[in-house]
Amino acid sequence: MDCFAYVKSPLNYIGGKFKLLPQILPMFPDEIGTFVDLFAGGCNVGINVRAGRIICNDMNAKIIGIFRAFQERDTEHILRRIEGKIAEFSLSKENERGFLAFRDRYNSEGDPIDLYTLTCFSFNYQFRFNNNLEYNNPFGRKRSRFSENMKDNLLEFLGRIRGIDIVFTAQDFTKLDVSGLGRGDMVYCDPPYLITRGSYNDGNRGFKDWNGVQEKALYGLLDSLNGQGVRFALSNVLTHKGARNEMLSVWSKKYKVTPVRNDYSNSSYNTRRGQSSEALITNY
Ligand SMILES: C[S@@+](CC[C@H](N)C(=O)[O-])C[C@H]1O[C@@H](n2cnc3c(N)ncnc32)[C@H](O)[C@@H]1O
Repeated sequence: MDCFAYVKSPLNYIGGKFKLLPQILPMFPDEIGTFVDLFAGGCNVGINVRAGRIICNDMNAKIIGIFRAFQERDTEHILRRIEGKIAEFSLSKENERGFLAFRDRYNSEGDPIDLYTLTCFSFNYQFRFNNNLEYNNPFGRKRSRFSENMKDNLLEFLGRIRGIDIVFTAQDFTKLDVSGLGRGDMVYCDPPYLITRGSYNDGNRGFKDWNGVQEKALYGLLDSLNGQGVRFALSNVLTHKGARNEMLSVWSKKYKVTPVRNDYSNSSYNTRRGQSSEALITNY
Protein backbone atom coordinates (compact mmCIF):
# COMPACT_ATOMS: atom_id res chain seq x y z
CA MET A 1 0.00 0.00 0.00
CA ASP A 2 3.10 2.29 -0.46
CA CYS A 3 2.76 5.83 0.91
CA PHE A 4 -1.01 5.53 1.42
CA ALA A 5 -0.78 5.36 5.25
CA TYR A 6 -3.64 3.62 7.05
CA VAL A 7 -6.24 5.95 8.50
CA LYS A 8 -8.09 4.82 11.62
CA SER A 9 -11.85 5.20 11.82
CA PRO A 10 -12.88 8.08 14.09
CA LEU A 11 -15.52 5.72 15.54
CA ASN A 12 -13.97 3.25 17.98
CA TYR A 13 -16.02 0.56 16.36
CA ILE A 14 -16.56 -2.87 17.96
CA GLY A 15 -15.04 -5.47 15.67
CA GLY A 16 -13.20 -2.74 13.73
CA LYS A 17 -10.57 -4.15 11.41
CA PHE A 18 -7.94 -1.41 11.79
CA LYS A 19 -5.36 -3.59 13.54
CA LEU A 20 -5.77 -6.34 10.98
CA LEU A 21 -5.33 -4.08 7.94
CA PRO A 22 -1.61 -4.91 7.52
CA GLN A 23 -2.61 -8.55 7.09
CA ILE A 24 -5.84 -8.11 5.13
CA LEU A 25 -5.10 -5.35 2.61
CA PRO A 26 -2.03 -7.01 1.05
CA MET A 27 -4.34 -9.93 0.18
CA PHE A 28 -6.56 -7.64 -1.92
CA PRO A 29 -5.97 -7.39 -5.69
CA ASP A 30 -3.71 -4.56 -6.92
CA GLU A 31 -6.27 -3.20 -9.36
CA ILE A 32 -9.85 -2.65 -8.23
CA GLY A 33 -12.48 -0.69 -10.16
CA THR A 34 -15.43 -0.46 -7.77
CA PHE A 35 -14.87 -1.71 -4.21
CA VAL A 36 -17.88 -2.44 -2.03
CA ASP A 37 -17.41 -2.65 1.75
CA LEU A 38 -20.77 -4.33 2.33
CA PHE A 39 -20.74 -4.30 6.16
CA ALA A 40 -18.65 -1.18 6.56
CA GLY A 41 -19.22 -0.47 10.30
CA GLY A 42 -16.53 2.03 11.32
CA CYS A 43 -15.30 2.01 7.70
CA ASN A 44 -11.75 0.98 8.58
CA VAL A 45 -11.45 -1.14 5.46
CA GLY A 46 -13.29 0.96 2.85
CA ILE A 47 -11.37 4.10 3.76
CA ASN A 48 -8.00 2.40 3.32
CA VAL A 49 -8.50 0.53 0.07
CA ARG A 50 -7.10 1.75 -3.21
CA ALA A 51 -9.86 1.52 -5.79
CA GLY A 52 -11.38 3.69 -8.51
CA ARG A 53 -14.60 4.03 -6.57
CA ILE A 54 -15.59 2.92 -3.07
CA ILE A 55 -19.07 2.12 -1.78
CA CYS A 56 -19.36 1.79 2.00
CA ASN A 57 -22.60 0.18 3.07
CA ASP A 58 -24.02 -0.69 6.47
CA MET A 59 -27.55 -1.45 7.58
CA ASN A 60 -27.03 0.90 10.52
CA ALA A 61 -28.40 4.12 9.03
CA LYS A 62 -27.32 6.14 12.07
CA ILE A 63 -23.67 5.36 11.48
CA ILE A 64 -23.94 5.93 7.75
CA GLY A 65 -25.63 9.24 8.63
CA ILE A 66 -22.47 10.27 10.54
CA PHE A 67 -20.23 9.44 7.56
CA ARG A 68 -22.49 11.36 5.21
CA ALA A 69 -22.44 14.39 7.49
CA PHE A 70 -18.62 14.13 7.67
CA GLN A 71 -18.61 14.15 3.88
CA GLU A 72 -21.16 16.89 3.27
CA ARG A 73 -20.25 19.44 5.93
CA ASP A 74 -16.99 21.33 6.01
CA THR A 75 -14.32 20.56 8.60
CA GLU A 76 -14.68 23.93 10.36
CA HIS A 77 -18.40 23.42 10.83
CA ILE A 78 -17.90 19.89 12.18
CA LEU A 79 -15.28 20.93 14.76
CA ARG A 80 -17.30 23.97 15.79
CA ARG A 81 -20.38 21.80 16.32
CA ILE A 82 -18.46 19.18 18.37
CA GLU A 83 -16.66 21.74 20.52
CA GLY A 84 -19.83 23.83 20.87
CA LYS A 85 -21.79 20.89 22.32
CA ILE A 86 -18.93 19.95 24.64
CA ALA A 87 -18.99 23.51 26.02
CA GLU A 88 -22.81 23.81 26.12
CA PHE A 89 -23.28 20.56 28.11
CA SER A 90 -19.92 20.74 30.01
CA LEU A 91 -19.13 17.26 28.70
CA SER A 92 -16.24 15.54 30.48
CA LYS A 93 -15.22 12.14 31.84
CA GLU A 94 -16.96 13.02 35.12
CA ASN A 95 -20.15 14.86 34.18
CA GLU A 96 -22.83 12.21 33.78
CA ARG A 97 -25.66 14.71 34.18
CA GLY A 98 -24.34 16.71 31.22
CA PHE A 99 -24.01 13.52 29.16
CA LEU A 100 -27.61 12.49 29.89
CA ALA A 101 -28.95 15.95 29.04
CA PHE A 102 -27.02 15.89 25.77
CA ARG A 103 -28.28 12.37 25.02
CA ASP A 104 -31.88 13.63 25.43
CA ARG A 105 -31.10 16.55 23.15
CA TYR A 106 -29.65 14.26 20.50
CA ASN A 107 -32.63 11.91 20.73
CA SER A 108 -35.02 14.79 20.09
CA GLU A 109 -33.01 16.57 17.36
CA GLY A 110 -31.10 13.69 15.71
CA ASP A 111 -28.10 15.60 14.32
CA PRO A 112 -25.48 13.03 13.17
CA ILE A 113 -22.49 15.10 14.33
CA ASP A 114 -24.09 15.22 17.79
CA LEU A 115 -24.36 11.43 17.71
CA TYR A 116 -20.63 11.24 17.00
CA THR A 117 -19.92 13.63 19.90
CA LEU A 118 -22.23 11.69 22.21
CA THR A 119 -20.47 8.38 21.53
CA CYS A 120 -17.13 10.03 22.37
CA PHE A 121 -18.34 10.38 25.97
CA SER A 122 -20.22 7.08 26.20
CA PHE A 123 -19.47 3.63 27.58
CA ASN A 124 -16.88 1.93 25.36
CA TYR A 125 -17.81 4.41 22.60
CA GLN A 126 -20.60 2.07 21.55
CA PHE A 127 -23.53 2.63 19.22
CA ARG A 128 -26.56 1.19 21.00
CA PHE A 129 -30.13 2.09 20.28
CA ASN A 130 -33.48 1.00 21.67
CA ASN A 131 -36.22 -0.29 19.41
CA ASN A 132 -37.38 3.28 18.76
CA LEU A 133 -33.86 3.93 17.48
CA GLU A 134 -33.09 6.26 20.38
CA TYR A 135 -29.48 6.19 21.48
CA ASN A 136 -29.36 4.46 24.86
CA ASN A 137 -25.70 3.75 25.56
CA PRO A 138 -24.71 4.77 29.14
CA PHE A 139 -22.11 7.30 30.23
CA GLY A 140 -18.41 6.38 29.84
CA ARG A 141 -17.44 7.49 33.37
CA LYS A 142 -13.73 8.20 33.89
CA ARG A 143 -12.86 6.71 30.51
CA SER A 144 -14.46 8.26 27.45
CA ARG A 145 -13.95 11.74 26.09
CA PHE A 146 -13.17 13.57 22.84
CA SER A 147 -9.39 13.40 23.26
CA GLU A 148 -6.71 15.08 21.11
CA ASN A 149 -6.01 11.65 19.67
CA MET A 150 -9.64 11.24 18.63
CA LYS A 151 -9.61 14.70 17.13
CA ASP A 152 -6.49 13.81 15.11
CA ASN A 153 -8.15 10.60 13.87
CA LEU A 154 -11.20 12.58 12.87
CA LEU A 155 -9.17 15.17 10.96
CA GLU A 156 -7.22 12.46 9.13
CA PHE A 157 -10.43 10.67 8.26
CA LEU A 158 -12.02 13.88 6.95
CA GLY A 159 -8.92 14.52 4.84
CA ARG A 160 -9.10 11.01 3.39
CA ILE A 161 -12.81 11.03 2.47
CA ARG A 162 -12.36 14.36 0.76
CA GLY A 163 -9.56 12.92 -1.38
CA ILE A 164 -11.17 9.73 -2.71
CA ASP A 165 -14.29 8.74 -4.64
CA ILE A 166 -16.42 7.26 -1.84
CA VAL A 167 -20.16 6.96 -1.26
CA PHE A 168 -22.05 5.80 1.81
CA THR A 169 -25.23 3.71 1.60
CA ALA A 170 -27.48 2.31 4.34
CA GLN A 171 -29.04 -0.92 3.04
CA ASP A 172 -29.53 -4.40 4.32
CA PHE A 173 -26.87 -6.41 2.46
CA THR A 174 -29.55 -8.40 0.62
CA LYS A 175 -31.00 -5.16 -0.81
CA LEU A 176 -27.89 -3.49 -2.20
CA ASP A 177 -27.84 -3.75 -5.98
CA VAL A 178 -24.59 -5.45 -6.97
CA SER A 179 -25.82 -6.64 -10.38
CA GLY A 180 -23.74 -4.01 -12.18
CA LEU A 181 -20.43 -5.25 -10.74
CA GLY A 182 -18.04 -7.12 -13.01
CA ARG A 183 -14.59 -8.66 -13.27
CA GLY A 184 -12.57 -5.60 -12.28
CA ASP A 185 -14.59 -5.02 -9.11
CA MET A 186 -14.51 -6.42 -5.60
CA VAL A 187 -16.86 -6.92 -2.65
CA TYR A 188 -15.48 -7.14 0.89
CA CYS A 189 -17.66 -8.56 3.67
CA ASP A 190 -17.07 -8.23 7.39
CA PRO A 191 -20.47 -9.30 8.72
CA PRO A 192 -21.33 -10.01 12.35
CA TYR A 193 -19.87 -13.40 13.20
CA LEU A 194 -22.36 -16.14 13.92
CA ILE A 195 -20.35 -17.57 16.82
CA THR A 196 -19.12 -14.39 18.53
CA ARG A 197 -21.02 -11.48 20.00
CA GLY A 198 -20.75 -7.76 19.25
CA SER A 199 -23.31 -5.14 20.22
CA TYR A 200 -24.76 -5.42 16.69
CA ASN A 201 -25.64 -9.11 17.15
CA ASP A 202 -26.13 -9.18 20.93
CA GLY A 203 -29.86 -8.43 20.91
CA ASN A 204 -31.15 -6.19 18.17
CA ARG A 205 -29.92 -2.84 19.49
CA GLY A 206 -32.65 -1.38 17.32
CA PHE A 207 -31.41 -3.09 14.17
CA LYS A 208 -31.96 -6.54 12.69
CA ASP A 209 -30.19 -9.38 14.47
CA TRP A 210 -27.70 -11.70 12.74
CA ASN A 211 -28.57 -15.40 12.62
CA GLY A 212 -28.27 -18.53 10.47
CA VAL A 213 -30.78 -17.24 7.92
CA GLN A 214 -28.68 -14.16 7.22
CA GLU A 215 -25.50 -16.19 7.24
CA LYS A 216 -26.89 -18.51 4.53
CA ALA A 217 -28.19 -15.57 2.49
CA LEU A 218 -24.69 -14.11 2.56
CA TYR A 219 -23.12 -17.35 1.27
CA GLY A 220 -25.75 -17.30 -1.51
CA LEU A 221 -24.85 -13.74 -2.44
CA LEU A 222 -21.12 -14.53 -2.47
CA ASP A 223 -21.72 -17.60 -4.65
CA SER A 224 -23.69 -15.52 -7.12
CA LEU A 225 -20.99 -12.80 -7.16
CA ASN A 226 -18.52 -15.57 -7.89
CA GLY A 227 -20.72 -16.69 -10.80
CA GLN A 228 -20.76 -13.08 -12.03
CA GLY A 229 -16.94 -13.07 -12.04
CA VAL A 230 -16.75 -10.51 -9.20
CA ARG A 231 -13.91 -10.99 -6.70
CA PHE A 232 -14.87 -11.20 -3.05
CA ALA A 233 -13.20 -11.46 0.35
CA LEU A 234 -15.03 -12.49 3.51
CA SER A 235 -13.64 -11.95 7.02
CA ASN A 236 -14.91 -14.40 9.58
CA VAL A 237 -14.05 -16.80 12.38
CA LEU A 238 -14.24 -20.55 11.91
CA THR A 239 -13.88 -21.41 15.60
CA HIS A 240 -14.25 -19.28 18.72
CA LYS A 241 -13.95 -20.30 22.38
CA GLY A 242 -14.70 -23.92 21.60
CA ALA A 243 -17.59 -23.18 19.18
CA ARG A 244 -17.27 -23.97 15.49
CA ASN A 245 -19.14 -22.44 12.57
CA GLU A 246 -19.93 -25.70 10.76
CA MET A 247 -21.89 -24.04 7.94
CA LEU A 248 -18.96 -21.78 7.19
CA SER A 249 -16.42 -24.62 7.36
CA VAL A 250 -18.37 -26.56 4.75
CA TRP A 251 -19.22 -23.65 2.44
CA SER A 252 -15.70 -22.15 2.49
CA LYS A 253 -14.14 -25.36 1.11
CA LYS A 254 -15.05 -24.10 -2.39
CA TYR A 255 -12.80 -21.08 -1.94
CA LYS A 256 -9.41 -20.07 -0.59
CA VAL A 257 -9.14 -19.77 3.21
CA THR A 258 -6.18 -17.79 4.57
CA PRO A 259 -5.69 -17.60 8.36
CA VAL A 260 -5.47 -14.13 9.87
CA ARG A 261 -3.70 -13.81 13.21
CA ASN A 262 -5.86 -11.85 15.63
CA ASP A 263 -4.68 -9.55 18.43
CA TYR A 264 -5.05 -11.98 21.27
CA SER A 265 -3.57 -15.08 19.71
CA ASN A 266 -0.65 -15.17 22.16
CA SER A 267 -2.29 -13.79 25.27
CA SER A 268 -2.98 -15.78 28.41
CA TYR A 269 -6.59 -14.58 28.15
CA ASN A 270 -6.99 -16.51 24.94
CA THR A 271 -5.21 -19.57 26.22
CA ARG A 272 -7.69 -19.64 29.06
CA ARG A 273 -10.79 -18.94 27.01
CA GLY A 274 -9.89 -20.98 23.93
CA GLN A 275 -8.48 -19.81 20.61
CA SER A 276 -10.38 -18.00 17.95
CA SER A 277 -9.42 -18.83 14.39
CA GLU A 278 -9.96 -15.84 12.17
CA ALA A 279 -9.66 -16.13 8.40
CA LEU A 280 -10.05 -14.31 5.10
CA ILE A 281 -12.01 -16.34 2.54
CA THR A 282 -11.48 -15.28 -1.06
CA ASN A 283 -12.55 -16.48 -4.50
CA TYR A 284 -9.39 -15.28 -6.29
C1 LIG B 1 -17.93 -6.53 12.20
S1 LIG B 1 -18.84 -5.06 11.91
C2 LIG B 1 -17.90 -4.32 10.61
C3 LIG B 1 -16.64 -3.63 11.12
C4 LIG B 1 -15.85 -2.93 10.03
N1 LIG B 1 -15.23 -3.85 9.10
C5 LIG B 1 -14.78 -2.01 10.60
O1 LIG B 1 -13.59 -2.25 10.38
O2 LIG B 1 -15.14 -1.05 11.31
C6 LIG B 1 -20.29 -5.67 11.14
C7 LIG B 1 -21.28 -4.61 10.64
O3 LIG B 1 -22.34 -5.27 9.92
C8 LIG B 1 -23.50 -4.47 10.04
N2 LIG B 1 -24.66 -5.30 9.68
C9 LIG B 1 -25.27 -6.24 10.45
N3 LIG B 1 -26.28 -6.83 9.77
C10 LIG B 1 -26.30 -6.25 8.53
C11 LIG B 1 -27.12 -6.43 7.38
N4 LIG B 1 -28.12 -7.32 7.38
N5 LIG B 1 -26.86 -5.69 6.27
C12 LIG B 1 -25.85 -4.76 6.28
N6 LIG B 1 -25.06 -4.53 7.37
C13 LIG B 1 -25.27 -5.27 8.47
C14 LIG B 1 -23.49 -4.00 11.49
O4 LIG B 1 -24.26 -2.81 11.63
C15 LIG B 1 -21.97 -3.79 11.73
O5 LIG B 1 -21.64 -2.44 11.54
